[in-house]
Amino acid sequence: MEDLGDAMAGDEDVMMLGGGNPAQIPEMLAFFQDRMERIIQNPAEFAHIIGNYDPPKGDRRFIIALAALLREEYGWDLGPENIALTAGSQAGFFMLFNMLAGEFENGERRHVLLPMAPEYIGYAEVGLMEDLFIAKRPQIELFDDNTFKYHIDFENLVIDKSIGAICVSRPSNPTGNVLTDNEIEKLSGLAVENNVPLIIDNAYGMPFPNIIFTDAKLHWDKNTILCMSLSKLGLPGMRTGIVIANESIIDAIGQFNGIINLALASFGPALVYDLVTSGEIIRLSNTVIKPYYKRKAERAMSLLKEELKGVDFHIHKAEGALFLWLWLPGLAISSEELYQRLKRRGVLVISGHYFFPGLKEDWQHKHECLRITYSMNDEVVSAGIKLIAEEVKATLNL
Ligand SMILES: Cc1ncc(COP(=O)(O)O)c(C=O)c1O
Repeated sequence: MEDLGDAMAGDEDVMMLGGGNPAQIPEMLAFFQDRMERIIQNPAEFAHIIGNYDPPKGDRRFIIALAALLREEYGWDLGPENIALTAGSQAGFFMLFNMLAGEFENGERRHVLLPMAPEYIGYAEVGLMEDLFIAKRPQIELFDDNTFKYHIDFENLVIDKSIGAICVSRPSNPTGNVLTDNEIEKLSGLAVENNVPLIIDNAYGMPFPNIIFTDAKLHWDKNTILCMSLSKLGLPGMRTGIVIANESIIDAIGQFNGIINLALASFGPALVYDLVTSGEIIRLSNTVIKPYYKRKAERAMSLLKEELKGVDFHIHKAEGALFLWLWLPGLAISSEELYQRLKRRGVLVISGHYFFPGLKEDWQHKHECLRITYSMNDEVVSAGIKLIAEEVKATLNL
């Protein structure tokens, strides 16, 4: 993570195909800049945004507008009492995981079940208890165009008293997988049966930023905790996460916020408020953000396939998010060593082995994958992919 942070902060000539930074999409930047200027020109609004503490659950006006948008779009039975903001969704995961799992006063220890590893690297270190996560290996479906897709292995998914919550990212970071509606329905059923919440990390999902390229339905009910974020709209600097859940979870998040942050930053909700009240946020997601990333995904996928000709490789189906997940079965070196070699040549990716928090068993697959981000500009992505293929071929003496 330090390598990635240094690369983003410095002016070194690094091909950054490693982070989760969203692209700076000109139309989105122009919109946010215009909105920012209008705020600055309105002295009362400007003074309110920089001069007042928001309530611990976040900007009330924004929360009311978002509840109305979700009710209208999905027909869900929810209101403002079902929504709280956090200082980025990463902070929300820290709160949720440690609230629902960990060591309890009666000595019980509960875990967060990740039904399908690989899973988001950002979860790995958030547990206040060691071994917070239990993860399961996926089933792998291979296709003959050098792609593959992970599926949840429901036969081996055991949910017992030691599980405090189930969590999936959908679309998935790192793989770009979008769990099918059927998989989500089954998970939701299992969660209800076992009386544990299902957390869906919807950072890339619907209705915004909607970086999903397959047909998928968005699921929420009072046993589901849906986590969203303004980051992948192009606002990671605004640090605004959104938790949608039953009232007792939302109250607990508000209390947590009060203790840790006192109040949340007001600028993120203020910048997108108009977009939410008008529903424009959905239109921009569908007509600007989604097509932007879809084109980049298709371009990166065909380039990687072309460059890797002659190598035994599979790429996960690019169904959403910002990443290609490359699997090199029988790679002669570990993915960590490949990462180091690429770093020496000025390309940053992430070695796949980091994305298996909670999967204790040794599995060679963990050391055969790379996550490649395609959100940066096309020239950087092309040059980076060429070098990745060169280094992979060098390990095979091709
Ligand atoms: C799947 C997933 N969840 C959560 C986050 C955290 O987002 P935020 O910027 O809202 O903290 C990220 C960031 O990359 C992510 O990829």
